[in-house]
Parts: sequence; C-alpha cells; structure tokens
Amino acid sequence: MKKLKVELGTCSYEIRVGTGLLARIGLWLKGRDFSGKAVIITDTIVEGLYAEVLERGLANAGFDVTILEVPPGEEQKSLETAGRLYDDLTEAYAERTTPVLALGGGVIGDLAGFVAATYMRGVPLIQVPTTLLAQVDSSIGGKTAVDHGQLKNIIGVFYQPKMVVADIDTLKTLPEIELANGLAEVIKTAAIRNKSFFNFLDINMNKALQYHPSVLETVVLETARIKAEIVEKDEKEVGLRGILNYGHTIGHAIEAVSDYELKHGQAVAIGMMAAAKISSRMEILDEVDIVKLERIIEKAGLPTEMPDMDKEAVWQAMQHDKKVAQDRIRFVLLRSIGNAFISDEIDPALVEEVLVGWG
Ligand SMILES: NC(=O)c1ccc[n+]([C@@H]2O[C@H](COP(=O)([O-])OP(=O)(O)OC[C@H]3O[C@@H](n4cnc5c(N)ncnc54)[C@H](O)[C@@H]3O)[C@@H](O)[C@H]2O)c1
Ligand SMILES: [Zn+2]
Repeated sequence: MKKLKVELGTCSYEIRVGTGLLARIGLWLKGRDFSGKAVIITDTIVEGLYAEVLERGLANAGFDVTILEVPPGEEQKSLETAGRLYDDLTEAYAERTTPVLALGGGVIGDLAGFVAATYMRGVPLIQVPTTLLAQVDSSIGGKTAVDHGQLKNIIGVFYQPKMVVADIDTLKTLPEIELANGLAEVIKTAAIRNKSFFNFLDINMNKALQYHPSVLETVVLETARIKAEIVEKDEKEVGLRGILNYGHTIGHAIEAVSDYELKHGQAVAIGMMAAAKISSRMEILDEVDIVKLERIIEKAGLPTEMPDMDKEAVWQAMQHDKKVAQDRIRFVLLRSIGNAFISDEIDPALVEEVLVGWG
C-alpha cells in the first residue's frame, strides 16, 4: 500500500492506494474520534460487489454498520435523493461523529459527500472510490455536489474527506468503457503537469487496459499525487486548480450536444485534442506534442476526432458556458506535454474556426 498526504492545514488527509484495502478500513477508523456507528452509502451495483467486505471489516473493528443504497446513475445526484438519505441517517441515529463512507463511483462520492457535508453541519466523510475516475479525480479535492434541473453540480460545497481509500482490486469488475472514461482524466492530468508520467502512460497503456494491478496502482497513485498537489496550492479553485479543466470547456459542450450519449471521458478526449489544435494554431505547442497526445488518447481507446454532430451547436453550447466572457474565451492550453497554463485571451473566432472547420 502507498500513502499520499493532501496538506490542507487542519483539513489535511491521507490517500491510501493499493490492493486488499477494503477489508482494512475498519481497523484504520477504529481509535479515531468517531462514534461506534458507521454508515456506508453506495449504489446497488457496487453494493452487490463490495459492501460486504467493507461492512465485515468495520463490524470486526467494533462499528455498528448501516448500509444505505441508491440506484446507480447520475439522476441520483439530486436534492430529492439527498433528502431521502437525510431521513435514513436520522432513522439510523447517525450522530455528529458517525463516519459516512462513500463506496462507489463519482456519483456516490459527490452525493454522499454532499450529504456528509450538510447533515448536522458536517459528519466525517471517508471516500472509498471504486471507479478509476473516482480514484484519480472526484474523490480528491473536496468538491461535493448534486445536480439541479438541467444544471450539473450546481448545488454543492467544498468539504474535505477524512481519508481516501483507493482499492485497486475494485477496478477488476469495472466495465472497459468506465476504465477508458477514467483514463481520459489520467491522460489529462499527466498532460498538464508531468511529462515523465505521460511517458510512463504511453509505454504502459496496454497493461492498464488489461487491469494489470501494479500498473494501475502507479496510474492511480501518480494521478492522485498531481491532483493533490494542485488542490493543496489552490483548494477553492481561484487560480491554478483551473488547469484541471484542460479539455473540459469544449468537452462539456460536446457531452451536452451528444445528449450525454458520449461519456464524459470521451468528450474530454476530443476536447483535449481541440485545445491542442488551438495551441498549435497560436504557435504555442509543437506538432510533435500534438501527435503524442493523439497517440496516447487512441491507445486508451478514446476518440480523437469530432464525432458526427452539429458543430455549430457545440460552439453555441460553449458560449453558454461560464468560462466564455464577452469577446475573449478562457481556456486551458498546453505549452508542451506536462506544461499547461490558463489563458483569458483566446480569440473566439479562432476557437470557432478550429471547431467548426474540424473533420
Ligand atoms: N467532485 C469532483 O471533483 C468530480 C470530478 C469529476 C467527476 N465528478 C462526478 O463524478 C461522476 C461520474 O463518476 P463515475 O464516472 O465514477 O460514474 P458512476 O459513479 O456513475 O459510476 C459508473 C458506473 O460504474 C458502476 N461501478 C462503480 N464501481 C464499480 C466497480 N468497481 N465495478 C463495477 N461497476 C462499478 C456504477 O454503479 C455506475 O453504474 C459525475 O457525476 C461527475 O460530475 C466529480
Ligand atoms: Zn472531468
């Protein structure tokens, strides 16, 4: 097992990455200032796979465990489901010191995180991410939220967990498309910040796709390390943390126009290529690096070309995005692999040209 620390003063916490960890969480929580109760919030798919081993470990450590389940899917990230969970927590007599364990993907992490942050003004949250995306991205950094109406993540709060436990074993049951979805964020994180990790991915992508445990452990650990470093420097996203949005401005628009037929990671992959093309047109990024980026995205089984969709609609959707100011667009661009920066000075005409003229 490897440990990382996210240094945030009194809100600092550890990320533990390795195999066989679910069964050990109970022991790690024992002896902290927690109540004798523990609550696991999970979805029905993950419940069937991993709740028992986590529950047994907690029970062996002396916790009286309650499991709360919600159906899988983004629709559950709602105030309505949060409301139901508050009822269940009250019914289980959860107290201020009762740890809530978010066992699942990003949906559960965001939802259970939001519930833990707000129930009784905050109860201890333990993130136990079981998708690659959740292990490398959503469980780290303290963003919790639910959706409202058509708006994603619009109601939420920054709330840091007490611990993040990424058990690589859980990835074995993850469908291939979900693995690729997480790999898009992994590639993004390497591309914005760490060239040698990018090269490691280039060499080991096939092994990652074959669920090779030691490769996946390195993938999760290194991506988590980079995200943690960025969050430490800018917890509330007033500056640097924005570079994690690389590929996301166009990516979100593509995702929305596809009516969420495209997965987030697929849309982000196309968004990363689009942003690279913009950097290249501005003569900031070398052609060699664009080719490297394209190759690694392809290796992960993700798209590198604009799908057959209404590009004008993508452009319109982007203009509704909050990152688009009146006559300049805010964009994360690469100077080179491993080196990203935020520019507020992108000419919208160039973005439109790259986007509409693509493919
Ligand atoms: N808080 C943040 O900083 C942040 C960052 C990125 C994304 N997110 C959020 O994360 C969410 C997406 O997360 P996701 O991609 O993990 O999706 P998800 O939580 O919907 O999980 C995807 C599917 O995989 C299943 N699953 C989970 N673990 C499994 C396992 N080990 N084996 C088999 N199946 C498993 C789930 O039941 C679900 O059906 C979005 O709501 C997004 O807004 C949040
Ligand atoms: Zn993302």
